[in-house]
Amino acid sequence: MSTPTESSSGLPETPAPARPVRALGVDIGGSGIKAAPVDLAAGEFTAERVRLATPQPATPGAVAPVVAEVLAGFEADPDVPVGITFPAVVQHGITRTAANVDPSWIGADAEALFSDALGRSVLVVNDADAAGYAEAAFGAAKGVRGVVVVTTLGTGIGSALIVDGTLVPNTELGHLEIGGHDAEKKAADSARERHDLSWSQWAKRLQRYYSHLEDLLWPDLIVVGGGVSKKHEKFLPLLDLRTPVVPAALRNDAGIIGAASLAASRARG
Ligand code: BGC
Repeated sequence: MSTPTESSSGLPETPAPARPVRALGVDIGGSGIKAAPVDLAAGEFTAERVRLATPQPATPGAVAPVVAEVLAGFEADPDVPVGITFPAVVQHGITRTAANVDPSWIGADAEALFSDALGRSVLVVNDADAAGYAEAAFGAAKGVRGVVVVTTLGTGIGSALIVDGTLVPNTELGHLEIGGHDAEKKAADSARERHDLSWSQWAKRLQRYYSHLEDLLWPDLIVVGGGVSKKHEKFLPLLDLRTPVVPAALRNDAGIIGAASLAASRARG
């Protein structure tokens, strides 16, 4: 515990609260719930990640105890911040949409739910926002000034918009309407798998999507993440865009690292 120091006036001065050096991150996905402790200076895990299967149906009441279980082996100190990702719009702790999750999440107070289950306060953040924030702080967009768009290609398309290092949350650019369709239904990695598309067939859909995105936002950099980004050499070279496009650097760890970092910044106030 810190003790008050003496100021030049001789009066005791309360020292500034110490910055958290580590935080816990949890990533809630459709098939797995993963957690790890994160070193906030390095943006790296300090221990092996733990994963449990996402319960089905993945209702709030079923997911909360699994989040508690996945964190059980880690830091019990309630002063260590906890950040949790969720694949939906998250506005001030409330989950607002359910494009690829159980509809019972719409309007759920996810922060209150997880805080109760864990007995400590938590931050809940959109999954792509967390991943994008981590890429901007520690990964493929580190040090990039201006407008950065991070997209995650998976079951849906997630997006994060980061402007000079500041996250603009809940952009949901995967749901842009292109040619009368919800973009993620055509261009997510799940669409490639569902329709058994070749890399070049899929790249044509991505070309349309990213052209639209760059016309809308004129970003300085586009980062492409999601599990399929580990095969980026199969499809990124097929894209013809004016914006530089790079694969994500942190891959599957990005959500956990971003959630932990955002929770720590909120704890700092
Ligand atoms: C959801 C987003 C989410 C993305 C990636 C979309 O369907 O609307 O909130 O970030 O999928 O999981």
